Amino acid sequence: MIFTVAIDGPAAAGKGTIAKAVADHFGFAYLDTGLLYRGVAKKVLDGMEPIDAARALIPQDMERQGLRTAKVGQLASKVAAMPPVRAALIKFQQDFARREGGTVLDGRDIGTVICPDAEIKLYVVASDEVRAHRRWLELSERNPDLTEAEVLQELRARDARDTERATAPMKPAADALLLDTSDLTIEAAVKTAVEAIENRIGQGRA
Ligand code: DC
Repeated sequence: MIFTVAIDGPAAAGKGTIAKAVADHFGFAYLDTGLLYRGVAKKVLDGMEPIDAARALIPQDMERQGLRTAKVGQLASKVAAMPPVRAALIKFQQDFARREGGTVLDGRDIGTVICPDAEIKLYVVASDEVRAHRRWLELSERNPDLTEAEVLQELRARDARDTERATAPMKPAADALLLDTSDLTIEAAVKTAVEAIENRIGQGRA
């Protein structure tokens, strides 16, 4: 079966958690596309040019230590605004999406650019404050001096860049289902996503 679940939305809205849970539930392969841009950013920090880094990206680059830091996130958002960097990463994502057995991809432009024909598209959002609180809980374990206000500022700066860039800006596809996780537990958000996908699979069989 070829079946693609496209999940987009801003940072820390819960899309990664939902994407992983949905992939586990249905036995689909999962690709966190943010890691591609984070992998490129890490190579840029090593001294490479962004375009060369994107062209040279290999799967091991997405397994490096330190990809999840705020610094790498900001630089990932900057390199992601460069059209040749995005162009170098499209084929890998599209090939992954159409693998046999079902796939889940999460990112910013999956439903709009990478997989406009995905069988189902979700756009996951949450209020800025809720997102900042979640991200702060994650990051403050390693960085106890970090404040929630700093995290909020970092998220807003990254969202603004991701939304305002000319190429593949972050936005919901016209046919995406909107899922606001601000007041939902993880279980409730995952349940909503799983039910929506089950319905879509059911329609395909009908
Ligand atoms: O999802 P994330 O926070 O790991 O993504 C890091 C950055 O990568 C994000 O700020 C913008 C960019 N990105 C993108 O432009 N397109 C994607 N499909 C995924 C991420």
